[in-house]
Amino acid sequence: MLFSSILSLSLVTPFALAATAADWRSRSIYQVVTDRFAKGKGEDDTTCDSSQRKYCGGTWQGITDNLDYIQQLGFDAVWISPVVANLEGETDYGEAYLGRWTQNISHVNEHFGSGDSLKELSAALHKRDMYLMVELVVNNFALLPQNQTEDGSYDYSSLAPFNYADAFHPECPIKDYSNQTEVEECWLGNSKKLIMPDLDTGNSSNFRIMKDWAKDLIAQFDVDGFMLSGAKHVSPAFWTDFVGATGIFAMGDVLTDNVTYAVDYSKALPGILDYPTWFPLIDAFSSSDGNFTAVVNSIEHSKELYGVGLYTSGSFIENPDQRRFPNVTTDESLILNAMTWPFVHNGIPIAYYGQEHGLYGGASPENHESLWSIGHNTYHAQYAQHFATLNGVRHLAIDSGKNFLTAPMEFVPQVDKNALAVSRPPLLGLLTNAGSNSSAQWTIPADTGLFQKGESLVDVLTCNYFEVDQTSGDLAIQSDSGMPIVIIPSKLLDVEGKFCSALPTLHTAVTNNSPVSVRNVNTLSSIFASILALALI
Ligand SMILES: *[C@@H]1O[C@H](CO)[C@@H](O)[C@H](O)[C@H]1NC(C)=O
Ligand SMILES: *[C@@H]1O[C@H](CO)[C@@H](O)[C@H](O)[C@H]1NC(C)=O
Ligand SMILES: *[C@@H]1O[C@H](CO)[C@@H](O)[C@H](O)[C@H]1NC(C)=O
Ligand SMILES: *[C@@H]1O[C@H](CO)[C@@H](O)[C@H](O)[C@H]1NC(C)=O
Ligand SMILES: *[C@@H]1O[C@H](CO)[C@@H](O)[C@H](O)[C@H]1NC(C)=O
Ligand SMILES: *[C@@H]1O[C@H](CO)[C@@H](O)[C@H](O)[C@H]1NC(C)=O
Ligand SMILES: *[C@@H]1O[C@H](CO)[C@@H](O)[C@H](O)[C@H]1NC(C)=O
Ligand SMILES: *[C@@H]1O[C@H](CO)[C@@H](O)[C@H](O)[C@H]1NC(C)=O
Repeated sequence: MLFSSILSLSLVTPFALAATAADWRSRSIYQVVTDRFAKGKGEDDTTCDSSQRKYCGGTWQGITDNLDYIQQLGFDAVWISPVVANLEGETDYGEAYLGRWTQNISHVNEHFGSGDSLKELSAALHKRDMYLMVELVVNNFALLPQNQTEDGSYDYSSLAPFNYADAFHPECPIKDYSNQTEVEECWLGNSKKLIMPDLDTGNSSNFRIMKDWAKDLIAQFDVDGFMLSGAKHVSPAFWTDFVGATGIFAMGDVLTDNVTYAVDYSKALPGILDYPTWFPLIDAFSSSDGNFTAVVNSIEHSKELYGVGLYTSGSFIENPDQRRFPNVTTDESLILNAMTWPFVHNGIPIAYYGQEHGLYGGASPENHESLWSIGHNTYHAQYAQHFATLNGVRHLAIDSGKNFLTAPMEFVPQVDKNALAVSRPPLLGLLTNAGSNSSAQWTIPADTGLFQKGESLVDVLTCNYFEVDQTSGDLAIQSDSGMPIVIIPSKLLDVEGKFCSALPTLHTAVTNNSPVSVRNVNTLSSIFASILALALI
């Protein structure tokens, strides 16, 4: 609950009701590219060609007007693009529509709306007990090659407040990503296309300015959490001080496939994106040749080595920086399995807007589709349902009294190399990369102690019931069409009401565990009417 956090609040500012890491743990996040998610009511809705890399006109007002949509998918936090004024005009990389090319940290990005409309978004979220996560770019600012002066330096006067060369590290390109000094001090961008002066974050006066800015954002816009973009380009020591001074939850976007590399950031920050597992994960679910052992190894290492285990890490399948998963495989059972992962992971599930539509854009900018060009209402029925069900069952698990949020996830070893069993009592996730033409088999031996002999279980994705063997106490389950299975003891349904019967029409589609070969498109009203009860559990 948002307001319950008042009690534990460290008094950062008199206005912000800061959400703690513990508050964030139970949340699930819907990430939008602000420019592409939605226009406001009455805003002209011309279509958007993402390959052009230009602003398409999505706004904060658009997000505010579509909170029903996000909430009905079961998400209770929204991560928006950076909010400050960016470089204007065209570059060789297009326009600054992702909001990551900072010029003036004291001014909002007017393409997304006014400061007041951002305040309205924040208030509208809080009214629904949803959280606002704002992405921040701290590492660098942005200039054009035209801003280079005759002596080879730059005219910094379009930047604020750092309108002088001394604020930045001396210019050098990052050539060697294994040299951390270069990663932190050299410049991103490209001297011929887009200049990205790298802020000297080790300078105490620069630190003070950035910290005050972040506190001001929290106070002005009632922000509940930050996503720190490009976190590996700033030292862990800076982050510790920065997050400590701002006093709210922050997660670092540390792009790496190396658990050991990520460890320092996991200790410096309340949370990081679980990129080290994302890499083997995408490989594992891309085909039946994928390797679950690599996923298991990554999770076991990070569980052991990260500052607070995996609990406040962000688990995701898609984001604006990676090609969408349906671009990797078109097999819907593989896509549904991958979508299930963040909800059986120990961390905070994060979905990227448009996953519920089954969007299949490739790498940036193709994966920045505008939802209004597609139609918010024409989402993929089974994917939308999947999010709503998974968010619903996660809340059921959180409320079950089984320490769902504080007990480490465990794998139950399987004989079938295409089967992965993740135990997070009271929930058991049975995932597979067999694909929709093959079957997978899981066995949960009695000696795991997870279930009792004869216990009745239910797969919340199909509402199929299973019984643990009366004599041996083993549980053996098969999926004939490569679909994921998410099991809870059926007695939990009775406590909370009839979880499954709230889903009449949608669940007939998948009752036989059959793959959906045709893209199954329904309208919002027909589907969300029946899943609303579930999503809001
Ligand atoms: C930055 O924004 C502030 C607040 O709107 C404004 O006063 C200032 O002139 C801007 N600076 C630049 C360089 O655009
Ligand atoms: C940087 O270059 C752009 C494009 O030529 C120009 O509009 C802008 O005024 C320049 N900024 C400064 C401070 O010269
Ligand atoms: C730190 O930055 C300030 C202005 O941002 C500058 O005046 C000062 O020289 C810098 N200090 C060092 C040690 O670089
Ligand atoms: C790492 O990069 C820095 C800055 O470019 C350089 O001074 C240093 O020699 C490099 N270290 C190694 C081991 O290459
Ligand atoms: C992983 O990161 C650690 C710590 O930065 C480093 O020592 C190691 O060489 C990296 N491993 C690989 C394979 O890059
Ligand atoms: C799967 O990954 C593990 C760990 O990274 C590796 O040891 C093993 O060789 C891989 N198996 C296959 C078949 O590639
Ligand atoms: C992947 O994305 C690219 C670019 O958007 C597109 O041309 C291609 O058809 C996509 N592939 C699949 C399998 O969706
Ligand atoms: C499943 O079988 C169908 C029909 O034979 C085929 O078109 C499709 O490519 C197969 N899918 C996979 C993932 O192998």
